[in-house]
Amino acid sequence: MKAYRYTMGSTLDELALVDLPDPIAGPGQVLLRMRAASLNYRDLLVVQGRYPRGQLDVISPLSDGCGEVVAVGEGVDRFAVGDSAIPLFFQSWLRGPMLDSDGESALGGSLDGVAAQYRVFDADKVIRAPRNLNFAQAATLPCAALTAWNGLHGPRPLVAGETLLTLGTGGVSTFALQFAHAAGARVIVTSSSDEKLAKARALGADCTINYREHPEWSAKVREFTNGRGADHVIETGGGGTMLESVRSTARNGWIHVIGLVAPGQIDPVHVLLAGVTLRGTEVGSREMFEAMNRSIEKSRIEPLVDRVFEFEELPAALRYLEQASHFGKVVIRI
Ligand SMILES: NC(=O)c1ccc[n+]([C@@H]2O[C@H](COP(=O)([O-])OP(=O)(O)OC[C@H]3O[C@@H](n4cnc5c(N)ncnc54)[C@H](OP(=O)(O)O)[C@@H]3O)[C@@H](O)[C@H]2O)c1
Repeated sequence: MKAYRYTMGSTLDELALVDLPDPIAGPGQVLLRMRAASLNYRDLLVVQGRYPRGQLDVISPLSDGCGEVVAVGEGVDRFAVGDSAIPLFFQSWLRGPMLDSDGESALGGSLDGVAAQYRVFDADKVIRAPRNLNFAQAATLPCAALTAWNGLHGPRPLVAGETLLTLGTGGVSTFALQFAHAAGARVIVTSSSDEKLAKARALGADCTINYREHPEWSAKVREFTNGRGADHVIETGGGGTMLESVRSTARNGWIHVIGLVAPGQIDPVHVLLAGVTLRGTEVGSREMFEAMNRSIEKSRIEPLVDRVFEFEELPAALRYLEQASHFGKVVIRI
């Protein structure tokens, strides 16, 4: 089979497509013929050596994919040949709160990822794809969608009628918009592009703000919420957006700290005075993934695929993601 290999410290141009032996499903395992993978900003961090978690020196990159079960090992009853299946981002996080050790079980970082034609997984670390999605759509779910879901349905779930603020129009934020809209919440979206904001409105955004035109966008959020602020914030920016996010959040509201696209720093006194809760949020468990998939099927939610590249075009696809001209998800057909 063909698989991509990335060596720590090398450049995107050195991302190599190599021949590897075909894997075989052992007892309790499933063999997936990978059909699609999707890209996350995190994959860029990995291949640029900037990912804040540990990673293997030589890996197959990409965490997110969907494949077809082509063989099942002895004792597997969760899957049958022909099923569409998605490997978990954190392979060891099945249910309950995340453990430190789960952080070291991420595909395409601590473990080999899905940029390969075939991959073997333990059957309990793979989940069935929602029935309403094709391979490309289902491949977008493991990281971006589940992170957004975890933010909105974690310890303080979003309630219909409340307001969500989500930053930018990348993968995580677009899922947050779709999930919150389906849940009956009001959604505010920021972006650097008016064209993307128009697309966000078409997806159900109730208020859109261009953060380049309005660098102090919290004032616009307060205006839209009659001075109250947002109840939840999907904070994909980082230190560079955190002060405006805190200023945008209602007292007792929640900020889900997710991203690091905008570097910067903030004095914690702003958090104290605003009376908001900051919650570090990392992807999600298999149990959360199952709940999310039920909701995707019930609400007929379709992930937004911006562009599909061929398997041989992975370096070009990563460069396209880096330019940030996409809206939603960038996918690789395998
Ligand atoms: N904690 C976790 O488990 C987890 C999971 C997934 C992702 N993440 C992190 O979340 C972040 C987003 O990931 P992604 O995969 O959704 O990225 P993505 O698809 O590459 O989207 C990135 C988007 O960030 C927006 N952006 C850049 N600078 C911004 C700023 N100053 N203010 C607001 N938006 C800004 C841009 O939106 P516009 O083009 O609309 O301006 C851009 O399209 C990344 O840092 C990623 O590492 C974390």
